[in-house]
Amino acid sequence: MFNIDFASGNKFRSGLVARIIYGGSNSAPNRSASQALSLSVALWFVAGWHNAAAADPKSSYLTRCSMCHQSNAQGLPGQFPQLAGRSAQIAQTAEGRRYLVRVALWGIYGPIDVNGTPINGLMPGVAGASDAEISDVLNHVISIGKPAKPAKPFKPADVAAVRAEGKVSGTDNAALRKTLVASGVIK
Ligand code: HEC
Repeated sequence: MFNIDFASGNKFRSGLVARIIYGGSNSAPNRSASQALSLSVALWFVAGWHNAAAADPKSSYLTRCSMCHQSNAQGLPGQFPQLAGRSAQIAQTAEGRRYLVRVALWGIYGPIDVNGTPINGLMPGVAGASDAEISDVLNHVISIGKPAKPAKPFKPADVAAVRAEGKVSGTDNAALRKTLVASGVIK
């Protein structure tokens, strides 16, 4: 099948794969580790990026969300909502949890207010990602910055249930958000 040898310096996605497999360690692989890597990489190609990413919620967040919401999820005032702390707060209620999944799946578009500052942006959803990857990303988002009141983790089945409700538009999600602000679910 595939035979990719890290020791020979094949750089194809090696940084990424090495990070996934070694969990951030920078040490150079020895010969048997290199063989193990060849196998892992072959499996990685078969499994696809989706599953590799789902195995590491943080790298999934960094790939899919951090370019806008920033790596620490603090957002950028007036442009991208802060998620750190706020998401765990939103995830305290069933309606809030459903909203977070809907936004991750289908995006959101329309004027909103975050920490007293208006944002009129567009977020594309990641409906192409698996239920497991989306629940992983949301679990990263609700835990980042160690919120005072932790929220119950998301399960892939939670994502599947919201997905099964059918596609909604970004504008629909902005409208839903208005009702959640009015009822105090989103502050
Ligand atoms: C291209 C930039 C971009 C990316 C990538 C992105 N977002 Fe967003 N996100 C936004 C913007 C902009 C908004 C606000 C949209 C608006 O003004 O209506 C938003 C809103 C949100 C909200 C709603 C916050 C609130 O206060 O109601 C959540 C939750 C969220 N994003 C989570 C995520 C997650 C999780 C990911 C990764 C899977 C992600 N976003 C990827 C730009 C982005």
